[in-house]
Amino acid sequence: MKFKRILVSTIAAAVLATTASAAFAGEEAIEYRKAVMKAVGGHMKGMSMILKGQAGDMSDIASHASAMAGLAKATETAFPKGSGPMDGKTEAKMEVWEKPDEFKKVTAAFVEYSNALAEAAKSGDKAAIGGALGALGKNACKACHDGFREKS
Ligand code: HEC
Repeated sequence: MKFKRILVSTIAAAVLATTASAAFAGEEAIEYRKAVMKAVGGHMKGMSMILKGQAGDMSDIASHASAMAGLAKATETAFPKGSGPMDGKTEAKMEVWEKPDEFKKVTAAFVEYSNALAEAAKSGDKAAIGGALGALGKNACKACHDGFREKS
């Protein structure tokens, strides 16, 4: 009897888990992705302002850079199937899902270049950090936006 009850609750949990992951698609997945990208944009802007000497302090640049590297990793799961232009209001193009190999390459570049930036940021060397930030902007942000984001 007891075994049967455990079995039933295991099945119920499995069913719940399936429904929960299905709910990640659509509007919520899009909202999450935009939140991740907004944070990415915020750190980018923050680092650029610090480097230009407009605001903030060099001692905080490593925090921005390591947050960015973490968010690059989060980007890998921010484009589930069912979160495209057919599923809600998004600037993500169909190409994300139609050209998965190409898309995987830019996501991998995002991880790679943001890790390089995080390393450079630890050194505190302004020229090295500026270089790494530029490389990230070109090879990740711009590369992906050019091919996979609708121009707004
Ligand atoms: C792997 C692809 C990819 C990379 C890399 C990428 N982005 Fe994006 N970004 C997108 C897509 C796609 C959208 C549109 C998201 C949506 O509307 O669902 C977007 C949206 C944005 C937005 C608008 C968010 C909003 O809705 O308010 C900002 C800001 C942004 N990205 C900044 C950046 C910056 C800065 C970088 C580099 C550090 C970057 N992105 C790297 C794909 C990428």
